[in-house]
Amino acid sequence: MPNRIVVGLQWGDEGKGKIVDFLSQKADIVARYQGGANAGHTVYVNGEKFVLHLIPSGILHPKKICLIGSGVVLEPEELKREIEMLAARGVKVEGRLKISAGAHIVLPFHRELDLWEEARRGEKIGTTGRGIGPAYSEKYARRGIRAVDLLSPEKLSRKVNDILSCRNHAGQLSKIDPIGLVQQLRSYEKFISPYLVDGSRFLNEAIKKRKSVLFEGAQGSLLDVDFGTYPYATPSHTIAGGALTGTGVGPKAIDEVIGVMKAYTTRVGNGPFPTELTGLEGELLRKTGEEFGATTGRPRRTGWLDLVILKHACRINGTDKLAIMKLDVLDNFPEIEICVAYEYKGKKTDELPLDLCELSECKPVYKTYTGWKSSTRGITRFAKLPPNARKYLATIEKTLGVPISLISTGPEREATIVKR
Ligand code: IMP
Repeated sequence: MPNRIVVGLQWGDEGKGKIVDFLSQKADIVARYQGGANAGHTVYVNGEKFVLHLIPSGILHPKKICLIGSGVVLEPEELKREIEMLAARGVKVEGRLKISAGAHIVLPFHRELDLWEEARRGEKIGTTGRGIGPAYSEKYARRGIRAVDLLSPEKLSRKVNDILSCRNHAGQLSKIDPIGLVQQLRSYEKFISPYLVDGSRFLNEAIKKRKSVLFEGAQGSLLDVDFGTYPYATPSHTIAGGALTGTGVGPKAIDEVIGVMKAYTTRVGNGPFPTELTGLEGELLRKTGEEFGATTGRPRRTGWLDLVILKHACRINGTDKLAIMKLDVLDNFPEIEICVAYEYKGKKTDELPLDLCELSECKPVYKTYTGWKSSTRGITRFAKLPPNARKYLATIEKTLGVPISLISTGPEREATIVKR
């Protein structure tokens, strides 16, 4: 059974939740490798909507084991809420959820710091406000609190004092009582400790026994801290490489990388977006695609498909196959544009500027396609797609040089075309 990475190829919200849910059917373990409760994975099962922020969407399949890897930043209150929400809806996580001991904890004041950082910035990033940036900065400053530290009062106390003295010294926090904070963190021990494992050992042993692992990415490649539109990025490694560093598995264990992309483009938060549509067409995409953030409810920015950024995304992930999402959202457009190149500094180019922030200076060069003006909603066979929709898909496949494996024609599990 293959070990696969599912990764977003745009700015997040591509519909990875649905693909992970779909591919989970054939996996034994689903492992989340980065990000935190900034993500929002929406999955429909038997008409019921589930939104998960931390727990991999594989949990909705009764027998799958789910791992939250060391690369994830974990907010205990959010985790608790999610476990309770699932239990209330008949999904038991006991014995099926595992948390890597090395996952870092998002502290209660990290949300406050996230807002503080945003207010301080001239040009805001438009973060989700979930404390993700401060949690990762604690980690990389090597003073972060990891899940395993919740088991040790002395270590917790030392680390809390270190973090608070550092943050207070910089004048970043309103007064926080270290004893109260240690007590609060200690209160999570009982709830979190049954889930703790050596995540890397667990996965490697499972792979040796020929179990199949699905690595679930959050956000998208263009939000990657190294290869995205920095600083308008999330502070983690969203790309396929992040699956290795975020779980402690070697590259040879990976059989396939599935890149997930929408049939158009969206982005939440600030930063460059060359194909953004700010008028009526953009509004129509937003309305038809229900493009509102699953975590923050913010309206998503919308635009035409951009093959230039997708080429970059396919390359940095070593993408083997594509999953195209929300094709049906384009059903009613008489004409559909695809960005095939940019006009940048007076020249036409199909490569990205060295500084991805200069994407804001790139003007899209479009190729116009005639729309199919008929419903593709719920279609499950490729041959049943209207010819113009197949033409649109063929352009994507040919330009990116990556075969299309799955096409989604609606939010339900069943509304999926398996092409190869
Ligand atoms: P942060 O991850 O909350 O620090 O936000 C950094 C940037 O990533 C902002 O532009 C957010 O809107 C964006 N972002 C974070 N998580 C998601 C997501 O799950 N989907 C789409 N955008 C996201």
